[in-house]
Amino acid sequence: MSSYICLCGETLINGASQRDALMELKNICIRALTLDDLDEIRRLFLQASTEIGFSDDILSAAVSDDLNHLLKSRSLERAKHYVRVLISDMENARFNSKDDFNVKLWKGYSEIKTDSLWLLERRRSDSGQKAWYWGNFVPQIPRQMMLRYTKPGSWVLDPFCGSGTTLIEAARMKRHALGIEINSEIYSKVRESLGNSHENLDVHIVNADSINADFKSIMAEYNIDSFDLVMLHPPYWDIIKFSDSPSDLSNAETLQDFLEMFTKVAKKSVDVVKAGGYISLVIGDAYRKGEIIPLGFMCMDIISKMGMKTKGIIVKDMQNNRGKRNSENLWRYRALKSGFYIFKHEYVFVFMKPSK
Ligand SMILES: C[S@@+](CC[C@H](N)C(=O)[O-])C[C@H]1O[C@@H](n2cnc3c(N)ncnc32)[C@H](O)[C@@H]1O
Repeated sequence: MSSYICLCGETLINGASQRDALMELKNICIRALTLDDLDEIRRLFLQASTEIGFSDDILSAAVSDDLNHLLKSRSLERAKHYVRVLISDMENARFNSKDDFNVKLWKGYSEIKTDSLWLLERRRSDSGQKAWYWGNFVPQIPRQMMLRYTKPGSWVLDPFCGSGTTLIEAARMKRHALGIEINSEIYSKVRESLGNSHENLDVHIVNADSINADFKSIMAEYNIDSFDLVMLHPPYWDIIKFSDSPSDLSNAETLQDFLEMFTKVAKKSVDVVKAGGYISLVIGDAYRKGEIIPLGFMCMDIISKMGMKTKGIIVKDMQNNRGKRNSENLWRYRALKSGFYIFKHEYVFVFMKPSK
């Protein structure tokens, strides 16, 4: 068979051999995706596991699990689904290893996006993430940010935590995370769903207003010195009302008020992110009185003026936006009548805090 046999003929105990083994398993996955015969796929993986002798030293629990599911799959479609999950979990395993991100292994990091246009698949359903909260983001967004800018054991802050997408994804990727959410009902729901099931990981949600809360004392409570990454997903002004609280950014009466409220949370985020750390801002624009209000660029400008370096302006497709799904024709009619374009995208901005 292929070259992996001799590659992995050495003892698979040191880091380099583990990387080789994972790399070869990944090559096998890529090959499996081109096959149209379930038995052939099964044979390929069975043969690989005998010849490479994958042990728990080599595979993380998640990867072993995927491999088992794959071998038990009864349909070609299911088997290929697990091949894809396996590839994704292997990326994660790579980051779970003692090695930090190593750009020399760049060919193995195929899951990490480096392009500025994101056409994401629908919400991943294999991660325990549910879409019950209107106004949430897909877990792929915090995942991409965490894959690239954090490692296992890093700390992630989400000051507009909502349904806890960032927290759930962080726990899945073995990152510590702190969420702040103003709406007490949402807070309770997320608090309950988080439970205490994150062994050796700190994943917390606090019911507070990020404009007025003292971030430093919340951090002291949880023994956090600084954050490696802050995910900011504020309300897109008043497009969706999230609560009745006057401190909720979705209740800002004017654009000026909204930007001032955002500035306060952004400033605190910049203060608590470590030098060399990152802030990711996810936001869409608004349309008011016959013209576009470019909330995205306005908020980008606010953060970049705080001494942060802009590293990414990503346009993310939102064709599947629930709000407009059943009224496409009406929106098209309105757009044609009033001369505007229907929003089909939002932004993911990435900023880095320069080292001193
Ligand atoms: C766009 S949603 C974030 C959704 C989240 N990313 C998710 O996947 O569920 C914005 C959230 O910010 C919360 N929020 C608004 N103003 C806030 C404030 N001052 N402090 C904390 N949370 C706030 C809202 O209640 C809402 O849950």
